[in-house]
Amino acid sequence: MSNHTKKDTELFRIIEAEEKKQQGTINLTASENYVSSEVLRAQGSIMTNKYAEGYPGRRYYAGCMNADAAETLAIERAKKLFNAEHVNVQPHSGSQANMAVYFTLLQPGDTVMGMSLSHGGHLTHGAAVNFSGKWYKFVSYGLNRDTEGIDYKELENLAIQHRPKLIVCGASSYPRTIDFKRFQEIAEKAGARLMADIAHIAGLVAVGLHPTPVPYADFVTTSTHKTLRGPRAGLVFCKEEWAAKLDSAVFPMMQGGPMMHTIAAKAVAFHEALQPEFKVYQQAVIDNAKMLASELQKQGFRLVTGGTDNHLVLVDLRGTDITGKVAQDELESVGIIANRNAIPFDPTPPRITSGIRLGMPAMTTRGFGTGETKQVASMIVRVLSQPGDSNVKKEVADQVAELCRRFPAPGMS
Ligand SMILES: Cc1ncc(COP(=O)(O)O)c(C=O)c1O
Repeated sequence: MSNHTKKDTELFRIIEAEEKKQQGTINLTASENYVSSEVLRAQGSIMTNKYAEGYPGRRYYAGCMNADAAETLAIERAKKLFNAEHVNVQPHSGSQANMAVYFTLLQPGDTVMGMSLSHGGHLTHGAAVNFSGKWYKFVSYGLNRDTEGIDYKELENLAIQHRPKLIVCGASSYPRTIDFKRFQEIAEKAGARLMADIAHIAGLVAVGLHPTPVPYADFVTTSTHKTLRGPRAGLVFCKEEWAAKLDSAVFPMMQGGPMMHTIAAKAVAFHEALQPEFKVYQQAVIDNAKMLASELQKQGFRLVTGGTDNHLVLVDLRGTDITGKVAQDELESVGIIANRNAIPFDPTPPRITSGIRLGMPAMTTRGFGTGETKQVASMIVRVLSQPGDSNVKKEVADQVAELCRRFPAPGMS
């Protein structure tokens, strides 16, 4: 029975095609990255065969000695990386990390505050189509119309008016530094607990290039696969006083057996993130994002908030001939992958949008510096300024292929 999966040529052809696509395209999706071959190896390992319901030393299955060792290592490394009191490394995703906090603290119908999805929040921060918006009474806060930054004053007024049990901060498409201390002061005034969802900026936070919420927030959640460059999964930290409740919210309330292969891969990613080179990488991500922002601005594109402090740039396409959807499709047609995104107070519907979100974590992993980023900015400008021009497309597609050849993605053949 050895190598029985190799017989599935149909599926493995799809994976090969995906690998070829990943190698041959410039990925500017702000929420994606390329994991190392070590992370891939752990994720694809035989740890997937093991059931280990429970926690290290307290399992409901036999033969868990190696699962215990791997999870303990992941826990110790995550705590060290974020200087946190308690961590649970079992959430299967960022969304489930958020669900675990809600299950720890809230009853259905409780009032919560979160950033509106249309202003850059996440689905799990109270969107009507998500469990969070269906089960809890979410009051949304948003951005200031003039500065396009978080409107802390409006947030404070809303918090005092609605007295939420929990305030959620963090975002999916916010290019500026988040003032976690300010959030904590507002939460305290309103008698609320604070949860910081750092899914996008976790890598920057881990190395101190974005202020950490850990001293201020009762709970900190993250996905592990964005700037943190780990496997696709989640993570949740809390103050010691919530540890027991949080752990039982993750298991047995929310999940069954932990994905031991993914937890092993998280341990590898945290080890990588604890190395000095990881800080160099994160600084390069920020430098590249700033370069992208300034080059796009020089060419006449308007950026939401006028620039970036982190890994992403949000381009406002109003006043051009194209929508976010058209921009996404035009870029994809030359091998540049980025997603359409609502801009604050967007007049177009979410499936179309007036914006495009560009992030530098993935291409910085492949070795892009500010020189290559500058080149990519001018390629984007050419394509978006002359949509549908087949000569432009041909030239830019050739440039994409050349850059991809020079900067191979890790973990691929
Ligand atoms: C701020 C934020 N929180 C949570 C998530 C959810 O993560 P996942 O897709 O792993 O559920 C995301 C994903 O994009 C996010 O941007």
